[in-house]
Amino acid sequence: MRAKIIGTGSCLPEKTVTNNDLSALMDTSDEWIKSRTGISSRGLVSSETETTLSMAVSAGTSALANADLLPEDIDLIIVATVSSDFVTPSTACMVQSELGAVHAAAFDINAACSGFLFALNTVDAYFQAGIYRTALIIGVETLSKIIDWKDRSTCVLFGDGAGAAVLCADEEGIMANLQGSNGSGGHVLMCRNRTNNNPFVSTDPSMDYLYMDGQEVFKFAVKKEAECIQELLTQAGLAPTDINWYLLHQANQRIISSIARKLKLPLDKFPSNLDHCGNTSAASIPILLDEVHRAGTLAPGDLVLLSGFGAGLTWGAALLKW
Ligand code: UT7
Repeated sequence: MRAKIIGTGSCLPEKTVTNNDLSALMDTSDEWIKSRTGISSRGLVSSETETTLSMAVSAGTSALANADLLPEDIDLIIVATVSSDFVTPSTACMVQSELGAVHAAAFDINAACSGFLFALNTVDAYFQAGIYRTALIIGVETLSKIIDWKDRSTCVLFGDGAGAAVLCADEEGIMANLQGSNGSGGHVLMCRNRTNNNPFVSTDPSMDYLYMDGQEVFKFAVKKEAECIQELLTQAGLAPTDINWYLLHQANQRIISSIARKLKLPLDKFPSNLDHCGNTSAASIPILLDEVHRAGTLAPGDLVLLSGFGAGLTWGAALLKW
């Protein structure tokens, strides 16, 4: 049995922050951000009650309703995030408690922007092994709390939000998947957890916020994501044109366009929500999936290829029959 997505949900913060709002706070412009990334606005949390947990619960609740399942029907909850509210308990355990998913095992994974794909592939492996039959997976980030708001080259790129999918074991669903990591490249995109306040340790607090070498990440993304997609298509015995929809990690519209060009495909096979979401890391693919699902874009039987890359470095992809 493979993992089949039977419901999706998402949650964006109440506050939308435009590029012009940011240019009132720092030396940047709508023209620079839009032309370099495709981003016009992003959602950012704006109150203490809007948290990683609250957005995860909202997206999860919406996905369960969309799947017509109850929380107690779920066997497994996996949350992909690098911006949990607590170091422990995991966000997944807190979601389990909030939803009342009393029969679910729950844990978080950290694969940064590839996190949702790692969660999806993990669920698929559990289903193939016959261990679980239903799962809720959530990609959620409040990156605004780990971003360095004095670094204009990163802070304009990211947004907050959550996306979720409910899966059940089925004959059809995921057809092929892969994932990979290269820890030796991890220094190009990193954020330390917290400064050690042990009186015997001296630490540099500047590492407590997100650091990114944008150009190195850009080069890695364009090369690795294209390779990853080609490898998945080869695994499935399909050509790029056989796929109806490519739902890629939403980091930069120029990365998405470059991959479309490499695959010799029209850009309209690559839906995008960068314009109004920015880069929401682990949440980007499931938010986009929920948007295209609710818009009626995906028809039963469509072949949908999900692919992403991120800190770690990590990358992953999954091909599914809708
Ligand atoms: O999901 C995580 C993965 N992350 C990514 O995929 C990010 C990948 N990288 C990128 O998307 C791009 O590298 C960026 C959008 C981050 C940057 O674009 P770029 O074309 O590589 O710009 P750059 O870093 O080469 O900067 C060009 C210029 C610099 O000025 P000088 O040195 O040419 O005078 C920067 O200081 O743009 C300047 N700059 C800005 N100007 C206005 C950097 N950030 C800004 C800004 N507003 N926000």
